[in-house]
Amino acid sequence: MSLWIINGSVWDEASGGLRKVNVRLEDGKIAEIAAGEQTPETGSAEVINAAGKLLSAGFIDMHVHLRDPGFEYKEDIATGTRSAAKGGFTTIACMPNTRPAVDTPETVKYILDKNENEGVVRVLPYAAITKNQLGRELTDFAALKEAGAIGFTDDGVGVQSAQMMKDAMTLAQSMDMPIIAHCEDNTLVEGLFVSEGEFARKNGLKGIPNESEAIHVGRDALLAEATGVHYHVCHVSTEQSVRLIRLAKSIGVKITAEVCPHHLVLSDEDIPGMDANWKMNPPLRTPRDVQSVIEALEDGTIDMVVTDHAPHSAEEKARGMQLAPFGIVGFETAFPLLYTKFVLTGKWTLGFLLKRMTADPARVFRLPTGRLEEGAPADLTIIDLDCERAVDPSTFASRSNNTPFGGWKLQGWPVATIVNGKVVYNEAAN
Ligand code: DOR
Ligand code: ZN
Ligand code: ZN
Repeated sequence: MSLWIINGSVWDEASGGLRKVNVRLEDGKIAEIAAGEQTPETGSAEVINAAGKLLSAGFIDMHVHLRDPGFEYKEDIATGTRSAAKGGFTTIACMPNTRPAVDTPETVKYILDKNENEGVVRVLPYAAITKNQLGRELTDFAALKEAGAIGFTDDGVGVQSAQMMKDAMTLAQSMDMPIIAHCEDNTLVEGLFVSEGEFARKNGLKGIPNESEAIHVGRDALLAEATGVHYHVCHVSTEQSVRLIRLAKSIGVKITAEVCPHHLVLSDEDIPGMDANWKMNPPLRTPRDVQSVIEALEDGTIDMVVTDHAPHSAEEKARGMQLAPFGIVGFETAFPLLYTKFVLTGKWTLGFLLKRMTADPARVFRLPTGRLEEGAPADLTIIDLDCERAVDPSTFASRSNNTPFGGWKLQGWPVATIVNGKVVYNEAAN
């Protein structure tokens, strides 16, 4: 069964602009990318007319929370992957802070099987570094890898013991697997929920210091140097972390990093009040930190954009800033947010943004996807770059709608998403 996407445009790096193409998908692969001057003979193939739309390799999000198993009232694999598809993502890597945590081969298999049956995008599961993510005992890395885990992380919490982290890195390195780290020193953050900065000062709150993140980044960069492991830093949010990652990269440590859209577009000074939709971990930092992570993404110190999609129920978020859980949903606003704030303002090229959401995560995690080339897997996103629309959280495909971006007027909305040659989201059909 073949599918033609006709009259679309792709980013052309050589000319720094758009180029018209017709793309034929067959047997789960991009079979042909033809110059778009004339309409091809499509025969009996299914046809999508992408006139006036952008075609991109499907977006890849290496940091998401699907909440399945255990917290299905927030999200599950069916709703989470539909939310991803609606945001243009075709591959997502899910975090193990579920209930039970992903610390046995059975739970890895549960996720892969459930996605096979109910999911609509590719799901790559991470497994926990320590049993139940308690930081006390390593999981069985070999069995978890064998079951299909693609890396190890205790995301949601930092690995507090340096010895535990060193043991994890040594073992991961020996089996050619990456360690992915949520960097946070618990002794510096206890009971705190916003960062040190203007918002904390104005509201008489003690703030989370930047060092709580950077202390782990520095410690782990040293351990990564000593062990030779591929070490990936989650959701970088501070100037100090950026400085350490830049230094470690410059001396050849195998360190990579990610940043979230909210840390690129929001600072603590944007928080409108005690509203838990502005509460996430790491917290929104100062404008100076925001500038640092932007520059780090621009110069390659930070390799990719991830959403840290973290759904929570309305009831949980209504508990108020202090008591509500950390986290915001991210799939359905990521691209329009960054396109509007960085590409339409002339700060980034479209090609740069697409690369940080496709080819770069694929390079870092050695995935076969993330390329719009003949022979590559048929994972594509079709985007209406001219469409401007206000964010309406009530229309999210996610089961949750905890976002600070409600009402924001954004431009550049995904309209169709194709995974392995199959249309899994089509706005026209919704
Ligand atoms: O904001 C966050 N939400 N940060 C985390 O580290 C965990 C995540 C979650 O699981 O809700
Ligand atoms: Zn985290
Ligand atoms: Zn996370």
